[in-house]
Amino acid sequence: MQIIAAGGFAEYLVDKVAPPSVGYDSFEQQLSAALVRLGLVKPGELLHSFEEWHNYEQKGGETYVAAAQVVVEHAGVLIERPFVSKAVINGQETVNRMLKRRAFLRACGILTPELYSVHAACINEQYLPYTIQQHLPQGHADSNVLQDLVHAAAVLDRQGFPTFNYILDMRTDGHRAHYVDFGWDLWDPAENPVSCALAALMAFVKRHLPHLMEEIQRTYALLREAARPFSAGQSASLG
Ligand SMILES: Nc1ncnc2c1ncn2[C@@H]1O[C@H](COP(=O)(O)OP(=O)(O)O)[C@@H](O)[C@H]1O
Ligand SMILES: [Mg+2]
Repeated sequence: MQIIAAGGFAEYLVDKVAPPSVGYDSFEQQLSAALVRLGLVKPGELLHSFEEWHNYEQKGGETYVAAAQVVVEHAGVLIERPFVSKAVINGQETVNRMLKRRAFLRACGILTPELYSVHAACINEQYLPYTIQQHLPQGHADSNVLQDLVHAAAVLDRQGFPTFNYILDMRTDGHRAHYVDFGWDLWDPAENPVSCALAALMAFVKRHLPHLMEEIQRTYALLREAARPFSAGQSASLG
């Protein structure tokens, strides 16, 4: 295994995540064991390299986020797997709440980053390089990203999520848009449908893609009609 860059995050992985070392395992071996433990190297894969991008930094209100990339080999094919580790400040209870919201949105057809593991109040998931603001205005309006954005607005509103600006809580790999922030911003679904996400969507479209306003409003209306209403049982299970 090649270590391309390692700093505080790699040290954390070795000190706190790697299983207690028997004998004299090298730093590389312990780092490798930690990455296997976190699901970043899957069964049947061979770890080629680790590159730390940054140690835990506070970017949002509820988490510290570290980022790195592993390259693994599977059946002779190299796979790049960039990931983030989100340390949730308030601990496991908040993690559980986030995971429930995440599962709920996924069940409603909203994409979320691939989840590798949850360990010690850290959510380890796929890294998505671009914000929606970085991606969409650059002439990519025909991509599925816009479709995903409209669909997410329809679902969030239909389920009564009182979102503030849901577009800030989504990111993209350049092909599809995923929901990434399941913290307080998202809050919980309510009894009645709302139009919070529509307001954010139309403000965004008016600013960046004004020629698409009517079309997007029509698509939103269709998708919102099609979204299944939230059942009381599901609501209770969000806890
Ligand atoms: N999967 C991801 N890939 C890349 N960046 C991410 C990912 N998830 C979150 N981020 C970025 O990390 C920062 C904080 O994460 P977020 O989930 O929004 O937590 P908070 O609840 O603290 O706002 C945000 O700037 C967000 O865009
Ligand atoms: Mg956030």
